[in-house]
Amino acid sequence: MRENIIITGFMGTGKSIVAEELARKLRMEFIDMDQIIEERQELTISDIFARYGENYFREQENKLVKELSRKENMVIATGGGTLISSDNNRILSQKGKIICLYADSQTIYNRVKRKNDRPLLNGENILDKINHLLKERKKIYANVEWKIDTTNFTTQEVVDKIINLLKLER
Ligand code: S3P
Repeated sequence: MRENIIITGFMGTGKSIVAEELARKLRMEFIDMDQIIEERQELTISDIFARYGENYFREQENKLVKELSRKENMVIATGGGTLISSDNNRILSQKGKIICLYADSQTIYNRVKRKNDRPLLNGENILDKINHLLKERKKIYANVEWKIDTTNFTTQEVVDKIINLLKLER
């Protein structure tokens, strides 16, 4: 059994796809936090925000973090805002290695602009919203020890960088 690997970072940095591929390569279980919350609530993230508000969503994230911290051998893709909670940050780092993916804001914009499944980036001036949130969360992401740039890299390249970084055996 391996300790958990937690893939975090801003929206559009590639967390889910990288975590899924990393889990496949390392034969670990892949967990996508947003997906689990959606399944349990039987609502999309956008609908959860619209119906119950962001705080309710953050409570669901916190419950799930606590639940996941009791398990091992998982590669967990967090939501982009999961680490805003210092409680989540503390629990996840006690129980695994956290890797923060990042990309420049233009790249993030290009990756998210055609989707409308991110309530915090809905509407006009998406690039401004991205820059604003990135600035607001700068310290949170910067505090993660392991950081990986995904701006000009393929999923495979990012996965290989993580494997090398953690010196993991396949
Ligand atoms: C959020 C990121 C989203 C999702 C929710 C809030 C955030 O996840 O959890 O919309 O606060 O950054 P992704 O980063 O997977 O888009």
